[in-house]
Amino acid sequence: MTSESIHPISHIAIIMDGNGRWASINGLSRNKGHEKGTENIQSIVQRVSELKIKFLTIFAFSTENWNRPKLEVSTLMNLLFDSINKQLDYLISENIRVIHLGEKSSLPSHLQKAIYKCEQATKNNTGLTLSVALNYGGRTEILNSIIKILSTNPSPNQITFKNIEENLYTSGIPDPDLIIRTGGEKRISNFLLWQSAYSEYFFSDLLWPDFTSKDLDNAIDTYFSRQRRFGKV
Ligand code: IPE
Ligand code: IPE
Ligand code: MG
Repeated sequence: MTSESIHPISHIAIIMDGNGRWASINGLSRNKGHEKGTENIQSIVQRVSELKIKFLTIFAFSTENWNRPKLEVSTLMNLLFDSINKQLDYLISENIRVIHLGEKSSLPSHLQKAIYKCEQATKNNTGLTLSVALNYGGRTEILNSIIKILSTNPSPNQITFKNIEENLYTSGIPDPDLIIRTGGEKRISNFLLWQSAYSEYFFSDLLWPDFTSKDLDNAIDTYFSRQRRFGKV
């Protein structure tokens, strides 16, 4: 494959789990674990971009993560704010387009502004599309899609899969081929419920701060050893 050709995988999505356990194993506070975890994002983004994979989605904060202690939530919000600001020049120089998946309105206003600025500054980039799922919940996404459709007063038998897809946060983004979850848990935790109907899963016991670009390559190799059938024989 030449460096210019597009990778056969269109979309990888990652549930970046295990920051808290990483911190506890290393005798550090959970917040330090989140700091390490946030730092780890860039090398993975870099690798996906190098591989010419067109779409990467990262799960940064779920709608259920609001139920964590207040201080942990505010630390996460501040880390995400810092990371978006710090990475902006890099994202622009790498031709990466950033999209937010989730509800912006209940995020702290400084974070909303940073996300908006990053989306605007990168919107014409033509390389990797990096979707950041932040205050994202799959059920909320589907419910909101249905509410939007119903607001146009359609007749029920005219509603199609396409209508639902066009009103998800991920409108225009292909379904993930491969979903990686680090941290050892074997569950989906409300991530990309609609879009993952036929995704391949790769579960890694590595905690997110320890997951390297080599581990990503390993997950991709495993993906290529699978046979996707989509219900056919
Ligand atoms: C993932 O790490 C980060 C978020 C969910 C925001 P965790 O904080 O869930 O780490 P563990 O699962 O407690 O180890
Ligand atoms: C999933 O991890 C959410 C993110 C990685 C942002 P959680 O740690 O919140 O998932 P559960 O609670 O173990 O299912
Ligand atoms: Mg977790």
